[in-house]
Amino acid sequence: MSWTKVLAADALSSGGRQVVKVGDRNILLLNHENKLYAVDSICPHLKLPIKKAKINEEGAIVCSFHRSAFDIGTGEVKAWCPWPPGVGKLLSMVSEAKSLPVFPIRVEEGSIWIDL
Ligand code: FES
Repeated sequence: MSWTKVLAADALSSGGRQVVKVGDRNILLLNHENKLYAVDSICPHLKLPIKKAKINEEGAIVCSFHRSAFDIGTGEVKAWCPWPPGVGKLLSMVSEAKSLPVFPIRVEEGSIWIDL
């Protein structure tokens, strides 16, 4: 694991999000309610992009494809593939529930850093 500078500290205002490439990984940076998060940019369900996912009232990022939900801070699975009704349940059986990888993030020296 090593810290990598990815963006200027003021690059993400509240509600902002951006995908950055670090090595061979694409990481989604989010500013949710003025707190920064770094998560894998790919949903662990079917490896589809999670960039447009909404964040619900419980602080979970909800994939827009089959609505799997993950705690934005820990990546813990809160719901696994509940959508669409019926079909989602079948899809959920195709792959075991997996957490969303999350990464330490900090602001220092005028930049955002993440630890991979
Ligand atoms: S790809 Fe994200 S829930 Fe299916």
